[in-house]
Amino acid sequence: MPALPHSPASRRRCAIVGLGSRHELYRDAILGTHAGSAELVGLCDANAGRLELSRERCRHHAERAPAGYPAADFDRMLREQRPDTVIVTTVDASHDDYIVRAMEAGCDVITEKPMTTDAARCRRILDACRRTGRSCQVTFNYRYSPPRSHVKQLLMAGEIGDVLSVDFHWLLNTHHGADYFRRWHARRENSGGLLVHKATHHFDLVNWWLGAMPVSVAATGKREFYTPAMARRLGLSGPHERCLGCPEGDACGFRLDLRASRGLKSLYLEQEGHDGYLRDRCVFRPEIDIEDTMNALVTYDTGATLSYSLNAFNAWEGYTIAFNGTKGRLEHSVVESVYVNGAECAQGAVAPDGVRIRLIPLRGAARDITPWSAEGDHGGGDRLMLEDIFTPGTVPDPLRRRADQRAGASSVLVGVAANRSIATGSAVRIEDLAGPLERPEFAPNPTRADRVPMPPHATPVGS
Ligand SMILES: NC(=O)c1ccc[n+]([C@@H]2O[C@H](COP(=O)([O-])OP(=O)(O)OC[C@H]3O[C@@H](n4cnc5c(N)ncnc54)[C@H](O)[C@@H]3O)[C@@H](O)[C@H]2O)c1
Repeated sequence: MPALPHSPASRRRCAIVGLGSRHELYRDAILGTHAGSAELVGLCDANAGRLELSRERCRHHAERAPAGYPAADFDRMLREQRPDTVIVTTVDASHDDYIVRAMEAGCDVITEKPMTTDAARCRRILDACRRTGRSCQVTFNYRYSPPRSHVKQLLMAGEIGDVLSVDFHWLLNTHHGADYFRRWHARRENSGGLLVHKATHHFDLVNWWLGAMPVSVAATGKREFYTPAMARRLGLSGPHERCLGCPEGDACGFRLDLRASRGLKSLYLEQEGHDGYLRDRCVFRPEIDIEDTMNALVTYDTGATLSYSLNAFNAWEGYTIAFNGTKGRLEHSVVESVYVNGAECAQGAVAPDGVRIRLIPLRGAARDITPWSAEGDHGGGDRLMLEDIFTPGTVPDPLRRRADQRAGASSVLVGVAANRSIATGSAVRIEDLAGPLERPEFAPNPTRADRVPMPPHATPVGS
């Protein structure tokens, strides 16, 4: 399709494809806080019910709802509405198709994470960016969360010198973690598995925190909790098809009642008739093909190494990370409160006093640092990211939090390599997946060339 002329108006014309839970963040920002700099001109979804629901919600903000298009008419939407920017919030495995078609039509793209789900799709996006010259912003909201930005600032300031290794452990509890096994994410063909879908956030954070490019990955993974056998160990006779009408619903601690949440009911239950998508499928059903327990060892071009784990059936939600540096160790942990996507509950809100940052020099006393904080979803990160998207350049960005397709690829491919390593039992080199990658613009940390001061004499221990 030939490139389309762009709107001369000062407000950025935006269209959104994929109108589920996540698109609401962007839609409401454009119609609300950022109405002065952006305008919503088109909405597109494969589900006719969710399309109408989103248009209806728009009428609460504006007199006229933006034009709506079924997925088959995405290109017609671009022709008729001439957006400057297309926001992609569909199921992960369809991101590449919409990103490439939008860029071919002359639009810039803002895409949700993961940028895509496999190496071929990744290469397709990178080639389209080069060919069309359009921009592709990947919305890594985790970078914008104040405590994680604070960690980046401490590493940049050289507080622990040069980072040589990292231990990073991410825990999903049985509310949030189980939710991935109910939804489309439970099939690898949709999400790439949790090492892509979820861990893209974590691998991006490490790439960005270290200012480093991943080189190779060795991984293991298994599904041992969300299985038919576990349902029976928990005393159920199932698995069954779904929670709604489940004969063992009252006995099952994993039941999700779509009728009990206004958001879940209107967004999913009432739209099932259009495409048959069930939002509350049994977490123990046999056809799930993603892991719930994953470990990866990653090496970086700086020489640093990462030991990473992701567990989806844990007793608490959050993470612990430790950076081991030439001058000391930085420990950081976050305990989060409950999250169920699309429901009316705290969205990844950080529990009070749940955030810690501690600096431990090689010699001398450890220091607890008061972490930066902010209000809002994803620890305040979503709001700051929206400001960066819709009013770019107005907020100084010394940490370089804004991410493009290069960062999108550098994180997705760690997960893709991990998946391949699990399948083959061998370590996988990142450049063997989609060819050499261009380095994102990272804010610099100290490097190996920097001189490290000799620590003072050790204090004798014991007698
Ligand atoms: N950054 C974050 O913290 C964060 C949080 C949640 C979701 N997300 C991302 O946002 C995206 C959407 O997730 P969600 O939770 O809103 O899922 P969802 O299931 O609520 O919504 C997905 C929507 O896409 C539509 N859709 C599916 N396939 C389509 C296709 N081929 N063409 C057009 N429409 C299609 C569905 O009908 C649905 O309306 C995912 O990529 C997810 O990874 C990111």
